[in-house]
Amino acid sequence: MAADPAQDRSHVEAGRRSVRTDQLLGIDRILVAAREPTAGREDTAATPPDSVPAGLPTTNPTPARGRPLLEELTEGAGPAELLSELEAIYARERPLGSGVEADRTIVFGEGNPCAELMFIGEAPGEEEDRTGRPFVGRAGRKLDEMIAAMGFAREEVYIANVLKTRPPQNRTPLQDEVDASGPFLEAQVSIVRPDVIVALGGPAAKLLLRTEAGITRLRGRWGSYLAGEDAVPVMPTFHPAYLLRNPTLEVRSQVWEDLQAVLERLGRPIPGR
Ligand code: URA
Repeated sequence: MAADPAQDRSHVEAGRRSVRTDQLLGIDRILVAAREPTAGREDTAATPPDSVPAGLPTTNPTPARGRPLLEELTEGAGPAELLSELEAIYARERPLGSGVEADRTIVFGEGNPCAELMFIGEAPGEEEDRTGRPFVGRAGRKLDEMIAAMGFAREEVYIANVLKTRPPQNRTPLQDEVDASGPFLEAQVSIVRPDVIVALGGPAAKLLLRTEAGITRLRGRWGSYLAGEDAVPVMPTFHPAYLLRNPTLEVRSQVWEDLQAVLERLGRPIPGR
């Protein structure tokens, strides 16, 4: 799809920089508005766990703490083993919530059990249900491009979803489904202990940041997710499926800005700079 010329011009006028992102979006170059601090953006510190970025509505400012699943795992085991044990509990109990079919494949998560960077999406789709692996369909290939553009290998990061099984007709997860899998996601984060989480799309951002605000308002602003005792910085950005549907220069630039903020926070070099 062609980029919107009006949006392109406004970006150019805002002051542009040319950045090599051929891996990110399947194009040679995109123009990125000079990264001046956006009003209201919190670049330096994570939002306290029980608050949300200024001006954003919240329905649940105090996190309802889930079941302490870590206590059910082998003390002293390494992260890979702990993740396997956690998945086994999930498989045994299948806490699906009301609408998810019980015979769906479990797509628990994959990647480096000690990753500094974790991506959390919404729920498995058709390809993921078929293979048991997260983000392996079209959206997954776009996520792979995003990861590569950041200078990471897919195996270096950890990838999970809010829901561990595919919702009927790929619909948005229901609240009780999110609540049912929430403690497992929290335990996954507690085990991996990433330095940063990227929340991909609205459902992941809403769960992690405990807000009803939409992703368009949330993206690009640091928040934080409390997993056990750890408050993990969260950068919400658009879901790769949204990028596929809306590959405008503006959306691509916004995603790349969010990913650059993550790299800065991790103290990593920004490819193309
Ligand atoms: N695939 C996933 O694993 N998660 C999503 O959110 C979308 C596609």
